[in-house]
Amino acid sequence: MAIKFALRTRVMMGSGCRTGISTEARALGVRKALVVTDKALVNCGLVGRVLEKIEPSALTYILFDEVTPDPTLNTVDRGGELARQAGCDVIVAVGGGSPIDAAKAISIAATNPGSCAAYEGINKYGNPPLPVFAVPTTVGTGSEVTFGAVLTNAGTNSKFIVYGDDLAPVVAFLDPELAVGLPRSVLVPTLMDALTHALESYVSRGSTPQSRALAWFAAQTIVRHAPTAYADTKNLDAMTGLLYAANMAGAAFASSRLGIVHAMALPLGAYFHVPHGMANAVLLPYGLEYNLNDAKDGYAEMARAFGIAGSAKAKDDALALRDAVARFARSLDVPAHLSELGVKEDQIEAMAADAMKSSHIAANPRAIVQADVAALYRKALK
Ligand SMILES: [Fe+2]
Repeated sequence: MAIKFALRTRVMMGSGCRTGISTEARALGVRKALVVTDKALVNCGLVGRVLEKIEPSALTYILFDEVTPDPTLNTVDRGGELARQAGCDVIVAVGGGSPIDAAKAISIAATNPGSCAAYEGINKYGNPPLPVFAVPTTVGTGSEVTFGAVLTNAGTNSKFIVYGDDLAPVVAFLDPELAVGLPRSVLVPTLMDALTHALESYVSRGSTPQSRALAWFAAQTIVRHAPTAYADTKNLDAMTGLLYAANMAGAAFASSRLGIVHAMALPLGAYFHVPHGMANAVLLPYGLEYNLNDAKDGYAEMARAFGIAGSAKAKDDALALRDAVARFARSLDVPAHLSELGVKEDQIEAMAADAMKSSHIAANPRAIVQADVAALYRKALK
């Protein structure tokens, strides 16, 4: 089976790099943007700090700030309609994974007929989506370089993915000035999401030498900078490291896909509104345990990223990695069990059935059947 490694996005990096939006708009020949974000980011002034740098002679815009966590199909369809009616020729996404995923889906809805629900799956839309500029404000998602978007169908209480080879943003602006001062309540889930991307991507069946290089260095960078960032989210050096690491982990899993942790995290968002990163953070040590035998060589290599010197036995190093990841999560005050996040036993079978529909299942290094997923939810629930 062939595997692939693909990147599409030009990644601009550095403090103040958001000023480059005007230059990139001119270069691309676009004139009118739909700015996709959420109200909290508008209210805290972060969106204003992006918009104030856009030169009106380069790009005009209209604001669409209706994105919610776990963005819904309805929101995306409304955004697409607005972009079409207003004649927008580019989407500018400002925010974490939810606004960026919503923006990517809106870029499809804007140029294709009907609801975005019709484009579930891989390369299902006929017309090219609008170009997207992505400005991440958290340190986790990686959505600014990936090819898919996760949406929630509120009617059926399920999540689904739209994916396209031309759906990754055209340009990403990694501006650490926007990440500095991130509240801890956002910092922890997003950096744990990025760490999960790195660890799952590294041992995924779809991994390649390129994706493993990115994933390994992303994990090492997160481990190095997280303690400082957690102590002081205004530390520019630490927040810069985490922002770049999240992007590297995103570039890794954009091609490799992930594994059992992400497959199980998505239903926790749909059923119990557990934030995506926090679901991963709690599940990650359980997922590592599940894969221990099948992925022990990769985990042993990843153990080095956690500063574990290594022994003669890969299995021992893999166990040491699992313990180090659990300690790392505890050091950031991540709960040990899903029950602490409001998850209830009564939905486990339904969640397990949904998790099995995820494309990450096939990428996991160890084969998975539904009973395995249900057992792992129970183990993590406590
Ligand atoms: Fe994720």
